[in-house]
Amino acid sequence: MEAAEFALRIARVTTGRKGILSFEGCMHGKSAATAFLGWPNDLVTFPDFIRLPYVSRAPQEQILSLAEQKLRGREISAVVVEPLQGSSGGHMASSDFFRNLSWMCRKYGSLLIVDEIFTGFHRTGEAFLHQELDFAPDVVLIGKAMGNGFPVSGVVIDSKYSITGAMLPGSTYAGNALACAAVAATLALMKTMDLSACVAEIHRTIETEMAPVMRAGVSIHGRGALWILQLPPTVIDEAVTRIFQEGVVVSVAGPYLRLLPAATISTDNLVHGCAVVREAILASLAS
Ligand SMILES: Cc1ncc(COP(=O)(O)O)c(C=O)c1O
Repeated sequence: MEAAEFALRIARVTTGRKGILSFEGCMHGKSAATAFLGWPNDLVTFPDFIRLPYVSRAPQEQILSLAEQKLRGREISAVVVEPLQGSSGGHMASSDFFRNLSWMCRKYGSLLIVDEIFTGFHRTGEAFLHQELDFAPDVVLIGKAMGNGFPVSGVVIDSKYSITGAMLPGSTYAGNALACAAVAATLALMKTMDLSACVAEIHRTIETEMAPVMRAGVSIHGRGALWILQLPPTVIDEAVTRIFQEGVVVSVAGPYLRLLPAATISTDNLVHGCAVVREAILASLAS
C-alpha cells in the first residue's frame, strides 16, 4: 500500500468521514486512488474525492475559499497537498496559504496531510519544506531520500492522534527490516552533515547558472536542489538528447525537465552540469 493510501485510511478512521480534498497536479503516487488525487482518470473514479486547482491555475485566495466551501460541510476527512509540485511545474503556494489551510482543517475537523516524499530530507533546503513554510501538518508522508536509494516510504502522524488497528491493514513491505536499517543508516549519516548549507549553495548556483535560460523566457520553478523547467515538446526532445550526449543526467517528465542534484554534489560538478543543460536548451531553442 502506498504511503498516501495509508494516510487517507488513517484520516478516514480518525474522523469517521469519507471525503478527500486534493489539488490538481500534485503527485501522491501511481496507484488508482493516489494518482486520482492529482489527475483525472478515464478508467476509474473515486466519488468521495474532490480535486481543487492549485496555485498555477488559480489565485490562492480563490483556492482557499473553494477549500473552505468544501470543508464547511464537515464531510472531508483530509486535505492532501504536495507543497511544491515536483512532478508538475514546481509550483508552490505561500506560507500564508498553508497556514490558512491548516487553520481551516483544524476549524472543520479535517486532517492536513502534507506529502513530503519528494521535498523532505533537505531536498528543498531545511529538513522539511513545511518547516521552511512554517505551518504544522497533522500527517507528513516521507520517502525517497531517507532510504538513500533503498525503496522506502513512511507516514508520520501527530502524536495527538491515537493509532488503532483499523488504520494498519498490514502490507507485504510494511515494517521491512532491511528498509528500516537503510533508513537508520542514512539518517545517522545525514545528521553528521550540514545538508541545509549544502542545499543553500546548490540553490544559489542553479539560480546563477540558469539565469540565461530564464532570460530566454523558459519557465523555471523550484527551490534548493529541486528545479523544474517547462519546455515545448520539440525543444525538450532535442535538448535532452544533447544533455545525455554530454554525459549529464536529468529527469524528464512530459514537458518538464527536472534538475535534481544530490545534496553532496561538488560546486564544480554542478556548475559543469548546469552549463551543459543551459547550452543544450539555448541551442535547442535557437534551432
Ligand atoms: C510527492 C510524491 N509522493 C508520492 C510518490 C510515490 O509515488 P510512487 O511510489 O507511486 O512512485 C512520489 C513519487 O514520485 C512523489 O514524488
